[in-house]
Amino acid sequence: MIKLNKVSKTYRTDKVETLALKDVDLHVQKGEFLAMMGPSGCGKSTLLNLIGLLDRPGQGSIEVEGLPVTRYKDSQVARLRNQTFGFIFQSFHLIPDLRVIDNVELPLLYRSMSAGERRRLAREALEKVGLGARMDHYPNQLSGGQQQRVAIARAIVGRPQVLLADEPTGNLDSKMGEEVMDILLRLNAEGTTVVMVTHDEREARRTNRIVRVFDGQLVA
Ligand SMILES: Nc1ncnc2c1ncn2[C@@H]1O[C@H](COP(=O)(O)OP(=O)(O)O)[C@@H](O)[C@H]1O
Ligand SMILES: [Mg+2]
Repeated sequence: MIKLNKVSKTYRTDKVETLALKDVDLHVQKGEFLAMMGPSGCGKSTLLNLIGLLDRPGQGSIEVEGLPVTRYKDSQVARLRNQTFGFIFQSFHLIPDLRVIDNVELPLLYRSMSAGERRRLAREALEKVGLGARMDHYPNQLSGGQQQRVAIARAIVGRPQVLLADEPTGNLDSKMGEEVMDILLRLNAEGTTVVMVTHDEREARRTNRIVRVFDGQLVA
């Protein structure tokens, strides 16, 4: 489904150059749940951002369903990204002034869709994560685990084929983390491909495959 061929990424600032990824080959299979592990700074987030077309590689190429996206214009990449991927981060990135339901609807504002249809899909997404009864709350009225579930609802509201999660349980206690993990596993069982960065070996063992990153490279 997603193929990275000899992908490298260098970050340049005024003073330093960091080679964050070197010659990475990775094939994310449709329908799998892949866990990505490795020490802090080894390149996991960089890799996830490249898979999700949030950033472009310096060298190498990426294919999404056979499409040569590295050769696409930014506008084409953005369209494909919005149609294909949902993102979840360690910090939930909810908008505090918006109710839960409005936060979840946000990604749909970029699609041509009636307000009623948006509301229906957002409600469905919130029911999927067990928060149908919290739609009119504001984010600060929810626990961390509930906020992350809202973020998952927002990530899946556009029915993405692939869910990318960067340490989604990193800010949660183990019980809330387990609930988030249960939801990701259920979405995966329903057909969504999931790629998740985690530091938790127990979580990683519940997935189909673990990819270990070290110093910008994949290690067996
Ligand atoms: N926007 C950026 N600008 C400069 N350096 C960056 C940037 N993002 C990441 N890096 C560097 O690239 C390396 C990999 O970072 P990252 O992918 O965030 O690692 P991880 O997610 O595994 O902790 C690190 O050395 C980090 O400091
Ligand atoms: Mg990271």
